[in-house]
Amino acid sequence: MSVILAIESSCDETAVAIVRGEAGLRAEVLTSVISSQIELHREHGGVVPELASRNHSLHLRALVEKALVDAGVAMQEIDAFAATTGPGLASSLLIGSTAAKAMACACDRPFLGINHLEGHLLSPFMDCTAVPPHLALIVSGGHTLLLDVIGPGRYIKLGGTRDDAAGEAFDKVGKMLDLPYPGGPEIEKVARDGNPSAYDFPRSMLHDPHLDFSFSGLKTAVLYTLQRQHGKVSVADLSASFQQAVIDILVGKTLRAARRSGRKIIALSGGVSMNRALRTAFQDACEKSDFEMVTASPDFCTDNAAMIAFAALLRHLAGEFSPLDGDIHPNLPLTESRDNVIP
Ligand code: KG4
Ligand code: ZN
Repeated sequence: MSVILAIESSCDETAVAIVRGEAGLRAEVLTSVISSQIELHREHGGVVPELASRNHSLHLRALVEKALVDAGVAMQEIDAFAATTGPGLASSLLIGSTAAKAMACACDRPFLGINHLEGHLLSPFMDCTAVPPHLALIVSGGHTLLLDVIGPGRYIKLGGTRDDAAGEAFDKVGKMLDLPYPGGPEIEKVARDGNPSAYDFPRSMLHDPHLDFSFSGLKTAVLYTLQRQHGKVSVADLSASFQQAVIDILVGKTLRAARRSGRKIIALSGGVSMNRALRTAFQDACEKSDFEMVTASPDFCTDNAAMIAFAALLRHLAGEFSPLDGDIHPNLPLTESRDNVIP
């Protein structure tokens, strides 16, 4: 049985979690606490890196203390300390990773540097340390990635975005519509009262044989529609039509990837997977085509430390650790890192 404390501070959420689990058996999240900075960045319309890192540093100690109390675990009972070391904002990554390394040093325990995307990727499977082979779609603010997952640490990239990430497109369209930051959840809210067929937006690359995505054409189509119909546009119809185009692209490409890979399980993760319309569309498509769909619970779709602790738990159980003098990696990819074996 291993107990892991992890810190996530790659962007605008300061988060700490403690996870416990055994090799090949049950894993459980003992606590997962978050101090969100969304309100702070909202007035700037996006994340301000210096504000983010200063606030991570202000809130981290109290969050670590709260996590230990909530979990009923003493610092000496932690078997390894982990933190996100990339990708993300450099100054933010440094705060969390330095704090986790300091705790590891003080308690004479190993440190594990975790890839934020691996955290998202494994988040639908957090109740058991035996992760089955599957086809994964990660849809976050910075990434849209299709991967064939052979097992933990063994990921083959099948496709990615050639321009904007899905979440980025939601956020940019939200800005165009004068909705608060971040645009994703706001668009979902207003889209509930809209007609998804009101505007016929492009489904870029949907029928191309490759498994890459493109969302910048869709974003531009929304902008042109707004410019043409200035003042007369229905924000609800436009949001619903935009959201439907994103859903069609994501579902269409992911199911094609699953058929090609031969996997039977499709796992959906990342902040955009919070979107109820997207989850329902995936669920329907998977049922029709006999795939099993798994998603993270809503608490673990957007950035959190439980997913980082779970990824660290799997590595710790496999006997891995990271050097204390290892660096952070703001542009860390998921499929070319040291541990990712492509057979
Ligand atoms: O995974 P995440 O919390 O952070 C990154 O690693 O990027 O994802 C944040 C992204 C933002 O772009 C946000 O707008 C989007 O997830 N998002 C949503 C929803 N909730 C969050 N997009 C669409 N619908 C939502 N309900
Ligand atoms: Zn994320």
